[in-house]
Amino acid sequence: MISVPDSALVLLMGASGSGKSTFAARHFDARAVISSDQLRGALAGDEADQHATDAAFDRLHRWLDARLAAGVLAVVDATNVDWMRRSELVRRARQHGRPAMAIAFDLPLDLCLLRNAARPRTVRAAVIRRQHDELRRGLHRLDLEGFSAVHILRAEGDIDSAVVQIEKGPVTRAL
Ligand code: UTP
Ligand code: MG
Repeated sequence: MISVPDSALVLLMGASGSGKSTFAARHFDARAVISSDQLRGALAGDEADQHATDAAFDRLHRWLDARLAAGVLAVVDATNVDWMRRSELVRRARQHGRPAMAIAFDLPLDLCLLRNAARPRTVRAAVIRRQHDELRRGLHRLDLEGFSAVHILRAEGDIDSAVVQIEKGPVTRAL
């Protein structure tokens, strides 16, 4: 079981096509989910436009800060394979005195590529390969990045059977 304090930062991590957004939609209230792709899409009209990336992360950080300040759950749906991006998010949680937890989607590369190819919006295979490598290289040191809990889902079965339990904390003020 994945136990999530209701004021936490939850960081989803995984290559494109690993199922982060699907998992987020299934387990979390849509209002809690902050998605880099959606923010990029809102800015550029194209979710895959990398030029909008910096501006999208700027917005992502601001949204995240607002939720962390309010003491409500924040789920960051981005690839998060870059440890520097992760450390920036964890730093923000710490600043607000909130726990940060990681859920990593360590699925086989071929599955990510296959799913990606079946989508209307495809990401280049070379990009997915790089993300997958970067995720793998970072997994062993996740425990050192300041997370209160780390969950690594390694197979479709793990993901399908995952149970997320939101733990109620002290009463928080509304956004
Ligand atoms: P997602 O769109 O959830 O992946 O699933 P993602 O990790 O968020 O990808 P990025 O980073 O935004 O690019 C990718 C595809 O895989 C299917 C989804 O329907 C989607 O088309 N999928 C996901 C499955 O077929 N089964 C699953 O268990 C999860
Ligand atoms: Mg997604």
